[in-house]
Amino acid sequence: MNITVKILRFDPEQDKKQHWENYALEVAPTDRVLDILHQVKWFQDTTLNFRRSCGHGICGSDAMLINGRNRLACKTLARDVVKEGGTLSVEPIRGLKVVKDLVVDMEPFFDSYKAIMPFFVNESPAPARERLQSPEHAELMAHSSNCILCACCTTSCPIFWANGSYLGPASIVQAHRFIFDSRDEATQQRLGLMNQNTGVWRCRTAYNCTEACPREIPITELIEQVKRSVMYGQA
Ligand code: SF4
Ligand code: F3S
Ligand code: FES
Repeated sequence: MNITVKILRFDPEQDKKQHWENYALEVAPTDRVLDILHQVKWFQDTTLNFRRSCGHGICGSDAMLINGRNRLACKTLARDVVKEGGTLSVEPIRGLKVVKDLVVDMEPFFDSYKAIMPFFVNESPAPARERLQSPEHAELMAHSSNCILCACCTTSCPIFWANGSYLGPASIVQAHRFIFDSRDEATQQRLGLMNQNTGVWRCRTAYNCTEACPREIPITELIEQVKRSVMYGQA
């Protein structure tokens, strides 16, 4: 397919604001958007910057706005987002400061993540073997433990755009993972964090997060579960 790729560029050393640049390319329908960006960088413009690592939807580093929707570049096929002769647009995710081109400053996102105590807490003496969990209890945290912290959800949330102090759906999903872990002993502390004015009550069930998640995590439903847990004081 012959297509045009339109990329929102920004070089802090040269530009006062972001601007679009177009690249004409021949791509295969089964190329991923990540392959297309590599084609631009390797053969047309080596100054293009973007993050990626695993290339297979695991590391969560290549979230970007593709045709106006948050997606992972490595999990998006050309044929699903552009037709022969068409234009594909790629922009950085919104709500975080652009460092360069498609690279944004993820520090505020990870600061929110750190704020929800993203670690297992259990002070009881360790059993001889592992801390067992029933399949029923494991099921409660099955969705939230699938999160790869890609930020597609948080950076599509209008509440987060309006107020960066909102912990955001990704951090709430991470909190959910521990709150609903039957082996964790810090439930009350985490529910207290979720009850703060930066926590779950800021969510207005906009659903953008759920639609954006590349792991198909039912984020809004998980946030509602956390809200109910805060109300009843237990998971
Ligand atoms: Fe990404 Fe989904 Fe996790 Fe949000 S919940 S960070 S969209 S994997
Ligand atoms: Fe935002 Fe998702 Fe709630 S988009 S408002 S966190 S349902
Ligand atoms: Fe790792 Fe896309 S490069 S998720």
